Amino acid sequence: MCGIVGYIGKSEKAIPFLLQGLEKLEYRGYDSSGIAILNQNEIKIIKKQGRLKVIKDILDGKKELHSHLVIGHKRWATHGNHSDVNAHPHLSKSGKISVVHNGIIENYINLKKDLTKKGYEFKSDTDTEVVAQLLDSLYNGDMFETIKKATQLLEGSFALGIICADYPDTLFAAKKDSPLIIGLGENENYIASDIPAVLSKTRKICRLKEKQIAVLKNSDINIFDFNGNKAKMEISEINWNVNAAEKNNYDHFMIKEIMEQPEVLNATISPRLKDYKIKLDNLNFNEEYLKNLNKISIVACGSAYHVGCVAKYFMEELIKKPVEVELASEFRYRSPIVDKNTLVIIISQSGETADSLAALREAKKLGARVLSVVNVVGSSIANESDDVLYTWAGPEIAVATTKAYSTQLSLMYLIALYISKTLGKITDDNYKDIIKNIESIPEKITAILKKSSSIEEIAKKYYQTEKIFFIGRTLDYAVCMEASLKLKEISYIHSEAYAAGELKHGTISLIDDKTLVIALATQDELFDKTISNIREVKSRGATILLVTTEDKMDKISEIADDVIYVPKISNILSPSLSVVPMQLLSYYVAKFRGCDIDKPRNLAKSVTVE
Ligand code: M6R
Repeated sequence: MCGIVGYIGKSEKAIPFLLQGLEKLEYRGYDSSGIAILNQNEIKIIKKQGRLKVIKDILDGKKELHSHLVIGHKRWATHGNHSDVNAHPHLSKSGKISVVHNGIIENYINLKKDLTKKGYEFKSDTDTEVVAQLLDSLYNGDMFETIKKATQLLEGSFALGIICADYPDTLFAAKKDSPLIIGLGENENYIASDIPAVLSKTRKICRLKEKQIAVLKNSDINIFDFNGNKAKMEISEINWNVNAAEKNNYDHFMIKEIMEQPEVLNATISPRLKDYKIKLDNLNFNEEYLKNLNKISIVACGSAYHVGCVAKYFMEELIKKPVEVELASEFRYRSPIVDKNTLVIIISQSGETADSLAALREAKKLGARVLSVVNVVGSSIANESDDVLYTWAGPEIAVATTKAYSTQLSLMYLIALYISKTLGKITDDNYKDIIKNIESIPEKITAILKKSSSIEEIAKKYYQTEKIFFIGRTLDYAVCMEASLKLKEISYIHSEAYAAGELKHGTISLIDDKTLVIALATQDELFDKTISNIREVKSRGATILLVTTEDKMDKISEIADDVIYVPKISNILSPSLSVVPMQLLSYYVAKFRGCDIDKPRNLAKSVTVE
């Protein structure tokens, strides 16, 4: 949600780095792009609505525009529409201070009123311009003191990159509730919203902590808290392969990430399984604590919430305790019944989702122990949780999540089995059988991926359909939710996920001969029930695409127009396989429709505003 990049160093390197960094962050927002450069003691701004290419074209050939100090921004609009004037960076009235921002300044209206009384005029509708003018109004020649004062006045969330014409040798940054990293280079330093932006330059990074200000020079970085006290800089080494954040030979990040699933699932599962023993890193749930648990509460957003929806089914079956799943944006504003006997599990790829982070804080306030399942190491959710388990999915760039979903799910299986075993709720045979099946997931997904061309054929047949229902029962229904979201977000086809038995309670009136019903039926004991539901929609004219397991081949009659088979696996694990053809189907449908798959309209990868 908005991408920030900043550079201080050598003038020949600044703009190329900035453009490359912004390109890597384009997944965070692409409504507009802009850069501010300090050129001959004057701040020059170039900003435009639309993709980064517009800025690149403007800069092309403008050799006079060089600088050793630059900040840049990719916007995901919150305050004010997509326009040149609302694009960042924003410049202060004096022309001396320029700001890029990620987050939301919640008290910007009041600040704007005060500043207007002081004679400030506003060109944009953004909350960020208020920050630029606030800094201007507080500026007394000491930029650090000015930023310190401003951070006390700003409410809401912000990651800021700031330059000041009086400080040609300094890049400033500040962070509260929005991610910001510092990259450490050789006689040059960087700031960015996320690691891929700096990875071509450095592997040494420092994540700014809550309420910190950073002061960067060419060869020196200092970090302070909002009161001005010096803070320790914790540097970590990024060990990703740079290729992990590149598209390589794939058309889109999404398909690359779908194809990576066997590998990243192996990386997430294998280190935690040895001789039928589950070792969840440093997590230590003793039997007493688990026995006293009244319930488990899973809190997340979007696809991560859908992982929770699947997990509820198998966790209750394995652990025999109530499991609730809740959207973080709802959890944080109601009065959840959560206490020290509740285990709260927060699931998040980015580890920065504003609602999930707020829910985490709320749960801790209520006395719950919080375990997070997170992909981004050192992210805010990981840092603030009591325990964290990382999904080793590597960087996920496509806005539509695929490999993060699968790895999150695999960890939820391990957590459920671990608790079930510790509480003695599972027989040895069943436990071993499930473990063996979990170990087979990567290989079975490989088999599904090998058949991707047949799913592409099916997509070709149906990509013009405008009304799609996904139906299934229990675990299949939970997968339908994710399948429907995947299709909607990248192909813009309206679809709905429905519990197969629920359609007849009203929604079946929408079914006609223009409807495609995608039915998931992988659960042995519910197979015939779902087939009956398929008959109900078939007789109302719907076209049927059935997703089921290979062992059902001889049970399939003429009822389905097309069938996708997935390998057989234990019933409770079937979501980890059936979701994969659904990801592929969405991808190919969106591709046939000519959609911008990795950057769907109105979206951004990391949702750091509520
Ligand atoms: O980073 P998170 O996992 O916390 O993000 C949560 C959702 O925003 C995310 O899963 C979103 O729904 C996906 N882009 C959907 O593909």
